[in-house]
Amino acid sequence: MKYIAWMALALAGTSSLAMAKTPDPAVADAAVRAAATVKAMNPDEKTVLTHGIMAMPLFPGMQMPADAILGAGYVAGVPRLNVPALKETDASLGVAWVGGMRHDGATPLPSGLAQAATWNPEVIRQAGAMIGSEARAKGFNVLLAGGANLMRDPRNGRTFEYLSEDPWLTGTLVGAAIAGIQSNHIISTIKHFALNDQETGRNFVDSRITEPAARESDLLAFEIGIERGQPGSVMCGYNLVNGHHDCDSDWLLNTVLKHDWRYQGFVMSDWGAVPTLSTATNGLDQQSGAQLDPQVFFAKPLADAAAHDAATAVRLDDMNKRILTAIYAASIDKNPPTPGGTIDFAADGAVALEAAKQGIVLLRNQGGILPLTTGARNIAVIGSYADTGVISGGGSSQVDAPSGPAVRVSRGGEGPLADFMQQHYHSSSPIKAIKALAPGADIHFRDGNYITDAVTAARKADVAIVFATAWRTEGEDVPDLSLPHGQDELIAAVAAANPHTIVVLETGGPVAMPWLDKTAAVIEAWYSGGRGGEAIASVLFGQTNPSGRLPVTFPASLDQLPRPKLDGLGEIEDANAHAAPAGVQLAANYDIEGSDVGYRWFARTGAAPLFPFGFGLSYTSFTTNGLALHGLDASFTVRNTGKLAGADVAQLYLVSRGGAPKQRLVGYARVALAPGASQKVQLTIDPRLLADWHNGGWDIPGGDYGFALGNDAQHLGPKVTVAMAARHWTD
Ligand code: BGC
Repeated sequence: MKYIAWMALALAGTSSLAMAKTPDPAVADAAVRAAATVKAMNPDEKTVLTHGIMAMPLFPGMQMPADAILGAGYVAGVPRLNVPALKETDASLGVAWVGGMRHDGATPLPSGLAQAATWNPEVIRQAGAMIGSEARAKGFNVLLAGGANLMRDPRNGRTFEYLSEDPWLTGTLVGAAIAGIQSNHIISTIKHFALNDQETGRNFVDSRITEPAARESDLLAFEIGIERGQPGSVMCGYNLVNGHHDCDSDWLLNTVLKHDWRYQGFVMSDWGAVPTLSTATNGLDQQSGAQLDPQVFFAKPLADAAAHDAATAVRLDDMNKRILTAIYAASIDKNPPTPGGTIDFAADGAVALEAAKQGIVLLRNQGGILPLTTGARNIAVIGSYADTGVISGGGSSQVDAPSGPAVRVSRGGEGPLADFMQQHYHSSSPIKAIKALAPGADIHFRDGNYITDAVTAARKADVAIVFATAWRTEGEDVPDLSLPHGQDELIAAVAAANPHTIVVLETGGPVAMPWLDKTAAVIEAWYSGGRGGEAIASVLFGQTNPSGRLPVTFPASLDQLPRPKLDGLGEIEDANAHAAPAGVQLAANYDIEGSDVGYRWFARTGAAPLFPFGFGLSYTSFTTNGLALHGLDASFTVRNTGKLAGADVAQLYLVSRGGAPKQRLVGYARVALAPGASQKVQLTIDPRLLADWHNGGWDIPGGDYGFALGNDAQHLGPKVTVAMAARHWTD
């Protein structure tokens, strides 16, 4: 069933290209209406939709418009022409909490990586639909969601918000998230366009990359995401690409997005990402959070420029037309949100719970210690506020339940934005959930602050479960992949004291595991969202058979990465500073790996990671075989060879081209199977995944193409070779 839903979505994604490429009748109608509205606008009205404020009391005495909602942004409407105001909230992982300023809350989903670990577009589409419905009930009509940046560096502080290191996985999943959000008459963004792949010096770091490498990696993830999700808006990022700010890049915005991909929606800036008025000519349509920029360029300065220059006047009309096209295509004028609407938190929590369960990855299970049996036993649970809740990631994407965070760990700071730098734990206690599943067990919680104390508890127990957290946030990268606060030492000591030690990782990305060999089991629970405690317990006790697969490579050491040292880390004191310190020029050279991001880099270098992309264990076993290819159509069979029901994620990789090794994920399917059952899977490979970007288009060199099924990117089945004819085409 799940597979059928996945295929339906895949087909829907290829047949309806509304905002981009093939004109869609609904968008074509919206564009016609938009052009008529632009004609009816007077000059003063033409710069209303082109700029907005950050809708928060940023400065003493700042007045918010009467109809604005505390949130990320507000763009006034044009009531005379029945154009609604745009009310924007961050929403990648749920409707954002904005430091609790609104005194409400929302359903926190698991992190982006956790959702991506489901490899299940349908779960992600449902999560998006849930966010959209909660946003409507709070009065928002634009959601700042759809984080699609690839993980080029596991130290990126925002890794938890994004999805993966692969363009196909990211593109298909982000498209599903956006489609779900927009099913509610809401505009969603896809962000941060493009190559916004580190937080250190994020306002001035220059991502250097050749065009082919960009087109085959980060840009391809956006291209696929836009085709499938049809976001009304694209948010340009803070960083520069090849010397130009994202929001001031004629190449990114005009050439790639609007010309080559024929994107008809609008480009909004990230908050504080607009350096000059030239951004208007270079493709930016709307200046967001304009108080954060050096000037409100897209108000009077833009109106003045349009009054004196015919080309700017034409461009201003185009900006309005694009914003209005998105408004009309989502029909937010005719189906306005319903502030004060009821939210079914129980139903929405079930969506978050399902995503968390499917996203948990079983990394190690020595001697089948998991699942734990529900019989009485003595269990020591150690660390990370496991008695109270599960950790979440920080920054603008932070979501909290209506009751607020269960635990806040302050990082210091003051003022209205200080809350953004606190670590929040959701009120979903793993211990409570464990107790519910093992009512006869004797469960002891130790906070893990003192190793001796934890070791004493572990010695007395049959099983020790150590919870370990690694908090990440927007605005700063992590210096290395260790677990902070001495947790690596804690785990090593507990594992030495009790051979039945199970580690539950709650991390925002890959971590090193120097203690791995000493443990009995490890699960990666990521930031598991508002029902995370229950999801973790249900995996530990086998109510859920783990089916998550890593959407990113866990390196064995930083030396294996293309950049063992993250550019600027340790040198730029304030990762968020607006300008580089005098004399500093910060660049990230992405040409080292080019389009071979993540597992493709490991395939190229031959390095053995700690855990490969695609890896994940199950309580049952599967075989995947019978790979047959007819041109781009692949088929194979997945069989559950074990004794328990479970889901496998079949992965199809290109492994060679013209006889030379070349690895790329070209298809995947999550298949749920009863014991002994099997299912035939059919996939159609997107030809861009086999191609190189060459001479302004995609190029498939003629020759032999080798494919293999993989349990993960490193463990591959037999190769099947197919001859492909040479082909060149443009987007
Ligand atoms: C982030 C965006 C976010 C915006 C509005 C920025 O700092 O980079 O992802 O949507 O703030 O909150």
